Amino acid sequence: MQIEINAKRLLAELETLATISEAEPPAVTRVVYSDADRRARAWFTSLCEQAELSVRTDAIGNIFVRWTGSQPELPAIGTGSHIDAIPFAGSYDGTVGVLGGLEAIRSLKESGFRPQRSIELLLFTAEEPTRFGIGCFGSRLLSGALGSSADEDLRAGDGSTLAELRAGAGYTGPIAGVLLPQNYYAGFVELHIEQGPLLERERVPIGIVTNIAAPAGLRIAVEGEGGHAGAVLMPDRKDAFCAAAEIVLAVERSARGTGAIDTCGTVGTCQIHPGAVNSIPSLVQLQVDIRDTDEQRRDRVLREVKEACDEVAARRCVSVRVELVNADAPAESSPQLIDAIERSADELGLRSKKMVSRAYHDSLFMARIAPMAMIFIPCRGGVSHRLDEYASPDDIATGTRVLAHTLARLASE
Ligand code: GLV
Ligand code: MN
Ligand code: MN
Repeated sequence: MQIEINAKRLLAELETLATISEAEPPAVTRVVYSDADRRARAWFTSLCEQAELSVRTDAIGNIFVRWTGSQPELPAIGTGSHIDAIPFAGSYDGTVGVLGGLEAIRSLKESGFRPQRSIELLLFTAEEPTRFGIGCFGSRLLSGALGSSADEDLRAGDGSTLAELRAGAGYTGPIAGVLLPQNYYAGFVELHIEQGPLLERERVPIGIVTNIAAPAGLRIAVEGEGGHAGAVLMPDRKDAFCAAAEIVLAVERSARGTGAIDTCGTVGTCQIHPGAVNSIPSLVQLQVDIRDTDEQRRDRVLREVKEACDEVAARRCVSVRVELVNADAPAESSPQLIDAIERSADELGLRSKKMVSRAYHDSLFMARIAPMAMIFIPCRGGVSHRLDEYASPDDIATGTRVLAHTLARLASE
């Protein structure tokens, strides 16, 4: 079947979405439940309604956009991604999968295709961990990886709970209702930029994700003793930031120490109290991100970091509290879905490459309740989580075309 993607429409929508931001364009900041996030959701919903798709929203703001098939009683085929963006991000992470998913559905409709299974586009609430310190909380709740205690357990930096923040954004109702039944989707396919350099380097337009690396997060609080930057003598200090600096380097040392290229360790946030140039830091809070394709090796790094924290605490006479925020298992894609994507790419005369996703995605959790696979497209220099993130119009259109063909194939089985 001939499916024409309206690339002009899709690119214009990606450009519009990029302007809905808390940061000055071209930087994009869209933190979940912020004003920008809410405006972006309203705009997205109106696009879906214009396309005559039915829209429902759950109690935390996951948005489901359904094109009902001729056999609506069958489990649907799902696609989708996220539109929240970390501070000072670019405009393609997540958004290509949401607006590309919408374009794939519209193109299928316009080409006269009629699905047997319903096709559903999902906009996940908060794939990024910016607000609650944990990634993918929308898909965690959908898949049962998080339960209703999340309403009180998940807290933003200012102490407000998920319950308060979702209510403030207009999302109410029992959080237990967010969980999807096991047979809700017959398959889930997410389109995303690679966020790494391989496809561009090898000039391959389509990546097919075979597995997603296992992420983990720690919160570390280091408490020492504050005081006057001039009056407290160096031998008498219990500087929390100096201790934290050693912990930061221990994270790097442990991640590099596995000798595996697949292990990554990052300390991405650091808050210093009281935060005055002439005051010795008394409290430092760090957020640590550790990942690996190999879960056991990832867990060894977590243990080493914990041991380093104990050692630094004892030697520097400070207290170090380590909280494990998450330690998730990796996910494997479904061989049937990999095959469906590969056949769609072949049909379109496109080269494809099977690859690992080192970044996490909502698909990591969707894999718990449905067969899952992902389509990657190249991004310039492999750059992501930066405002100079870029995917070319051709690559976006190509990925969307492969998605449309894959959805058509899966919705007809
Ligand atoms: C997702 O944004 C990730 O950090 O992998
Ligand atoms: Mn991201
Ligand atoms: Mn993403």
